[in-house]
Amino acid sequence: MTTFKIDTATRGGKAWFNRWIIQRMALFGLFGWLGVTLSSIWWFFPWQWSTLFSGGRFAYAFWWSVPLAVVGGYLAVYAQLKLQGRSEHQEAEQAAAANAKTPEEEAIERAEYLAARRAGFTGLEIGTSTGELLERRGHKGGLPSGTPVVLSPEDCAKNIIAFGGIGSGKTSRFINPLMLQLMEQNAGALILDIKTDFQREVAAITAHVGREYKTVGDGGMTLNLLRGTTPELAASFLKSCFLAQGTGDSQIWADLATEHCRNCLTLIKLTGSDYSLAGLYDIAVDDKARKALIEQAEAAFDDMSDRDQRLQMAVSRYFTTWDGYDDRQKSSVMVNVNSVLTPFSHPDLVDAFSTGSEQGEADLTELINDGAVFLVNLPQTKFGKEGARYAYLLIKLRFFNMMRERRTRDDWNQTRPVAFVCDEYQSIVDSVSDTDFWDKSRSSKTIGIVSMQGVASLTQALNGNHKAAEAILQNFRQRVVFRTEDEATLRHVQHLLGQIDVVLTSSGESYSESVSWTGLGMGGRQPTQSQSISESENASMTRQDLFSANDMRALSADYCLLIGNIGDRAADEVLQVAPLYIN
Ligand SMILES: Nc1ncnc2c1ncn2[C@@H]1O[C@H](COP(=O)(O)OP(=O)(O)OP(=O)(O)O)[C@@H](O)[C@H]1O
Ligand SMILES: [Mg+2]
Repeated sequence: MTTFKIDTATRGGKAWFNRWIIQRMALFGLFGWLGVTLSSIWWFFPWQWSTLFSGGRFAYAFWWSVPLAVVGGYLAVYAQLKLQGRSEHQEAEQAAAANAKTPEEEAIERAEYLAARRAGFTGLEIGTSTGELLERRGHKGGLPSGTPVVLSPEDCAKNIIAFGGIGSGKTSRFINPLMLQLMEQNAGALILDIKTDFQREVAAITAHVGREYKTVGDGGMTLNLLRGTTPELAASFLKSCFLAQGTGDSQIWADLATEHCRNCLTLIKLTGSDYSLAGLYDIAVDDKARKALIEQAEAAFDDMSDRDQRLQMAVSRYFTTWDGYDDRQKSSVMVNVNSVLTPFSHPDLVDAFSTGSEQGEADLTELINDGAVFLVNLPQTKFGKEGARYAYLLIKLRFFNMMRERRTRDDWNQTRPVAFVCDEYQSIVDSVSDTDFWDKSRSSKTIGIVSMQGVASLTQALNGNHKAAEAILQNFRQRVVFRTEDEATLRHVQHLLGQIDVVLTSSGESYSESVSWTGLGMGGRQPTQSQSISESENASMTRQDLFSANDMRALSADYCLLIGNIGDRAADEVLQVAPLYIN
């Protein structure tokens, strides 16, 4: 049914309204005139005389014209609107038919949309502002309600971190939607799937936007973790692992273990042996194998270049010193070396990180040059808990190193953003590389997108090193906080957002009754009784958390708190976030 509404604003304004009134007046006038005319013809008939004689001819005409004008006018207007409605309906149908697209046209349109999106990188939308902090709590850093919060490429490069308890929305409201936007645009992405539950999401999202992804690890490509590194760089990677495994007084032993590995790697390089983690493991822990290699290097000394000869002498000197260490010192160093390298002697890890996979070896520079998408998948069930963890950590370090190198490589693409996506990030964090990389990552166009349950898990992963945790968090300038009860996260939020002045008004009514005895008069003591009722209103100023622990606990999965930086200003607001489920 068509509904008719008089809407002067949308149907043509005042001119239209005037026309509408004139039309109706003309119709009613026409039928009124008809009434008068007809009645003036009929009034000679004798039967009207008896009923309307007293009013005269004009009253008679008037009483005829009123019903005719009303009924006739109404019918005429109704017919007119009906006709008009029908023609509008037809017009709408014609317009819809003209706009209707065939599936082919729709496919072309989508392809055009995707091609336009793929041409560049315009940023990432996090959610829509609710205006809670700006409009309801008067926080200057808030955002007007309804504003879509979009991070420009520069804002994205300030790195994004999400916190939230189990089932708070990190995957469905944060990682998935951001992944989709990254994939639609021309960004490369390295996805470290620590929980090994993300393959389905990546497959669905890349397929949806017509892109491919490559799996590294289980059932996919291999990656030689040390290929192309110098012994110094490889040793620095291992140092991060030694520190991450954290056994109490580890710093000094981690340093010595690093030194030991560096010399072993140099020895391997000099003799052209197996320059891999498995190869390193053999030489580092097996005295016999190492001695054999030293002898081999010494035998080849005369054929070496001048630089290699000097390296060889330094290595020989080191191992002489090493032989002089007492057993307790050696075993303390070996605890570190073993804990990190033993997993890499496992055949599955050897296969995953050596050449020989049918799918070939992954080349991480494709992230930069081709905007490739790599999903690293190393299930603990297959590679062991420690093996998987160190392998992820080493891949992270290789990635960091490559991104650092980017600016110096003219032959590499210099504009494409590369995202580093990692859920449960605390499990591969370390106090050396993460404090150092993220504060300089902006110039290399890296976009860090990581999530974890809370600040407590980060500090714990860093063996209680609060300073390192703070230093790392400082370089994730866009913080997205979902529902959480983690004390350390709540404190972090309060620390960032601070408190506001709140005026508390309290009104009260008090009633008092008193009896007093006054002196001793005639007839003994006389009590006097008094009652009073007083009303009062108090206003007091107090400091309250802008967004309290209770507010944080009360967030539903569709809302999060952004404590971020947009352009050169702080942007703190409660955002509404839409889920992206992959079923
Ligand atoms: N496929 C789905 N269909 C419907 N609801 C879902 C789906 N996946 C998740 N949810 C709901 O969305 C909410 C957030 O889930 P999500 O997996 O995003 O949380 P999370 O923070 O990633 O949790 P975790 O710490 O376990 O990874 C949960 O309440 C969950 O019930
Ligand atoms: Mg999740």
